[in-house]
Amino acid sequence: MKILVVGKGGREHALVRALSESASKPELFCFPGSEAIFELAKPVDADGLHSLVGWMLGQGIDLCVAGEESYLVKEEGLANLCEAAGIPCWGPKKEAAQLEASKEFAKIFMQRHGIPTGWAKATETLEEAREAIGGVYPTVLKFDGLAAGKGVAVCADEASAEEFLHEVCTERRFGAGRVLVEECLVGPEVSVFAAVSGPEYVIFTPARDYKRIGEGDAGPNTGGMGAVASRVLVEPELMERIEREIVQPTVAGLEKDGLGYRGFLYFGLMLTAEGPKIIEYNCRFGDPECQAVMPLVSGDLAAFCLEGAKGSLDAGRLTFDEGWSVCVILASAGYPASSRNGDVIRGLEKVEGARVYHSGTKRQEGAWATNGGRVLAVVAGGASREEAVEKAHAEAAKVDFEGSLRRGDVGRMHFE
Ligand code: AMP
Ligand code: GLY
Repeated sequence: MKILVVGKGGREHALVRALSESASKPELFCFPGSEAIFELAKPVDADGLHSLVGWMLGQGIDLCVAGEESYLVKEEGLANLCEAAGIPCWGPKKEAAQLEASKEFAKIFMQRHGIPTGWAKATETLEEAREAIGGVYPTVLKFDGLAAGKGVAVCADEASAEEFLHEVCTERRFGAGRVLVEECLVGPEVSVFAAVSGPEYVIFTPARDYKRIGEGDAGPNTGGMGAVASRVLVEPELMERIEREIVQPTVAGLEKDGLGYRGFLYFGLMLTAEGPKIIEYNCRFGDPECQAVMPLVSGDLAAFCLEGAKGSLDAGRLTFDEGWSVCVILASAGYPASSRNGDVIRGLEKVEGARVYHSGTKRQEGAWATNGGRVLAVVAGGASREEAVEKAHAEAAKVDFEGSLRRGDVGRMHFE
């Protein structure tokens, strides 16, 4: 079986590694990939989606796995182009990927299918947004488009709301687009992942990520500074409720709307006092949640995704470890406002009994060096959360580079 994975970050490194460990032992390729990923998957000579699909046809690729979301909505859409070429794709078509690409589309979808979520209003102008906020704080403002994780602001007061609206509506920081004014939901957050193939779904191990840069959730939002995953993160009764009230109606809604979803679907949830509510969908696995979840999955992920891409899911192909997994991110100095490249990474060879996934690294004079904001993910498992936490931090502490940033409370905050 020949599989191409699309993407280049730590999530794709974890996906490629999990696929490489699949019982069916696929031959792997990655586009655009990274030097670390190329240790497990061959690079692809392509430039743009059309040339990529042409390359897949030429190579006889059996399955395309979409890691990163941007390709799903670029040009005609990765999955659409794969379908036209007769190549199974594990990732949704452009029409369905609007669930992530457009916050307004997702909100209308949730409302139409009776899926619990916060109140929201789409606004066109600064004045309309102010009116929708109506002086009620905190409020949540969202740019209606892909904004690399920077398009959401939870505003505690008028000053921060005005600042965000100014950036979006006046400076057009993310380009043209509407702003969604949303009710601010309160409660613990949890990320639930499902593999979806038409009307069928399989729920993976849930996770919780650490979005802010600083310990105790201080400072600005990032792509994610760590994650913790375990089956027992969510109580069984609550998971049943999430499945009944959110996952099932979403999958049924996708079918009803003729969107024919295939791929991983990420439910960003808030566990409010009134019950679980959905904040957002992402049409992919989470990053860094994927790095935490994948080590808990064994069996044949490659065969599972291939069958899913062709229209059926066999949960029996996979086994989910009952333990805990903790992922600690090492980020480069200045992240998330900026990042540094070219700092030599030391100590990787000392890491034992933990997995290291590369998010932003490059080879430099025979050594690994930083090449981006998030640099590495160090992931350790354990029968208990404490065991996994201690191990992940102990191993992450062995790795270092100039100005490296790590949250010491990953796996601890929210639990202790
Ligand atoms: P998103 O890009 O939609 O995932 O939003 C990023 C983060 O903003 C989420 O993980 C939440 O922490 C927060 N957030 C988004 N929407 C809401 C909401 N309606 N209420 C409270 N917090 C939210
Ligand atoms: N960790 C959050 C995300 O992948 O969107």
